[in-house]
Amino acid sequence: MPTTDTGEAKIHYQDVGAGKDVIVLLHAFPLHSGMWSRQLAAFSHRYRVIAPDYPGLGKSALRPEPSSMDILAGQVKALLDGLRIDRALVVGLSMGGYLAFELYRRRSALFRGLVLCDTRPGADTPEGAAGRETFARNAVEKGLHWVADEMTPKLLRPSPDPAVVREVRALIGQGTPAGVAAAQRGMARRIDSTPTLATITCPTLVVVGEEDSLTPPVEAEKMVGLVKGARLVRIPGAGHLPNMEAPAAFDKALLDFANGLSK
Ligand code: MLT
Repeated sequence: MPTTDTGEAKIHYQDVGAGKDVIVLLHAFPLHSGMWSRQLAAFSHRYRVIAPDYPGLGKSALRPEPSSMDILAGQVKALLDGLRIDRALVVGLSMGGYLAFELYRRRSALFRGLVLCDTRPGADTPEGAAGRETFARNAVEKGLHWVADEMTPKLLRPSPDPAVVREVRALIGQGTPAGVAAAQRGMARRIDSTPTLATITCPTLVVVGEEDSLTPPVEAEKMVGLVKGARLVRIPGAGHLPNMEAPAAFDKALLDFANGLSK
């Protein structure tokens, strides 16, 4: 499992497949690159797939400050620069979508295409940001078991597959309480990306689980209306993590889109 030192902290990332076209997978909170295990296997036959972990989640080193989208975008950019990757299809799910917006603002030339999954462009309300601070403190005080109890039901469809429940809990358990807190505080600081949507010129696909209660399909529909030429795919039988709950439909949507870019 490679790591890279971006100058300030070591980032762990997965790097599989050897195709000339690259897909970058940006994970959700409070998980890590392991949430993409099915996609890493399914896409690597044709593409090189890179999936980093954010600080203090998965195997990436913790940093002392909040994991702001600014810091994360700097890390991803440094990682890709180090690998000499200057074009990629960028896929961001939820927090990964927030990060993709920041990356787009910094380096739109990187994007061969963009896939926004189960995410939203807006910033937090003051109440939402305060709720994240409370969550961050609880995570540090009560630990990852508490984080898994809080988050797992929200991430999955109302009647989830028990095996996926176990998998999500295990992924959360592989982080650190401080990494979870840093991610919450970083998300609380994110800016409103709604104006960014109108600046996106690369081919864009929006994907949403039909049973997503955190970022419901209505959010996805709004985004599609604001990104020129964007298409929407709704994934039945999935909540906030369609890549884990309905991987066949999710992978097909992504591969159809990615293969279309390669023509
Ligand atoms: C995620 O899945 O990344 C989170 O639900 C995002 C958030 O808390 O806003």
